[in-house]
Amino acid sequence: MAVKLDGKKLSNEICENLKGEINELKKKGIFPKLAVILVGDDPASQIYVRNKHRRAEKLGIQSLDLHLPRIVTEAELLEKVKELNADPTVHGILVQLPLPKQIDPDKVINAISPFKDADGFHPYNLGRLFMNDPFSIPCTPNGIMHLLKAYDLSVDGKNVVIIGRSKIVGRPLAALMINQSATVTVTHSHTKNLKEITKKADVLVSAVGKAGFIHGEDVKPGAIVIDVGINRNAAGKLVGDVVQKQVEQIAGYLTPVPGGVGPMTIAMLMKQTVELAKWSALKR
Ligand code: GUN
Repeated sequence: MAVKLDGKKLSNEICENLKGEINELKKKGIFPKLAVILVGDDPASQIYVRNKHRRAEKLGIQSLDLHLPRIVTEAELLEKVKELNADPTVHGILVQLPLPKQIDPDKVINAISPFKDADGFHPYNLGRLFMNDPFSIPCTPNGIMHLLKAYDLSVDGKNVVIIGRSKIVGRPLAALMINQSATVTVTHSHTKNLKEITKKADVLVSAVGKAGFIHGEDVKPGAIVIDVGINRNAAGKLVGDVVQKQVEQIAGYLTPVPGGVGPMTIAMLMKQTVELAKWSALKR
């Protein structure tokens, strides 16, 4: 039976530790503040944003929630980002993705100051990550690395297989893994014989977004399996990409859904906001 990699528990511990740091900052007159922009009313995005807001509030991080209508223009959104860049009380900015069709997400991400980039998606930050000199780091991949570290699981020399090449998960995770001396294979929708590749993985990360994508037979015995998927099954229940009942019989370690990667993402966002607040004070 696979050991459960408990992201919920670790996330709570990380947030608990942050409280002290936040209080220290407040004593110095620095009040960490995260601005979250949500455009439109995508139900999944609304839930993510609400969870971020709740967690921030609990920790004493100010969370400025800006909800813009679905029909907002790209120019209007860019103007809002510009305003937040210029606001010295705001330390972190996050624009929830996906954005409506009329808006180019790359343009918006490029407009966020790299030094307020709570998501770590700005090309400056992705470049620094690639050069193994990270500043702001994408939260889901960073959460995965923290979770592995908490369980003393080194990826050095391991065969890591990532399914998904997204800018949010697959690409930055590949960089983080390379920085930790893993041998990394990034697979995606054009990959041939995917299941032959997954079976050789010491660490398998699935970021596909399809329930029931990874079965027991796709996994190497004893492997570390990280399930990044967030899907609803036919019964409306929250599930990952991995058929947990099968894979927990084969894998050595497995992240549950919910309670695995998801809470780690939020913990990393909180941590990064605090880091950005600290940095803003240093540069003054
Ligand atoms: N949409 C799904 N995941 C994320 C994330 O980590 N950050 C942002 N901004 N949007 C997302």
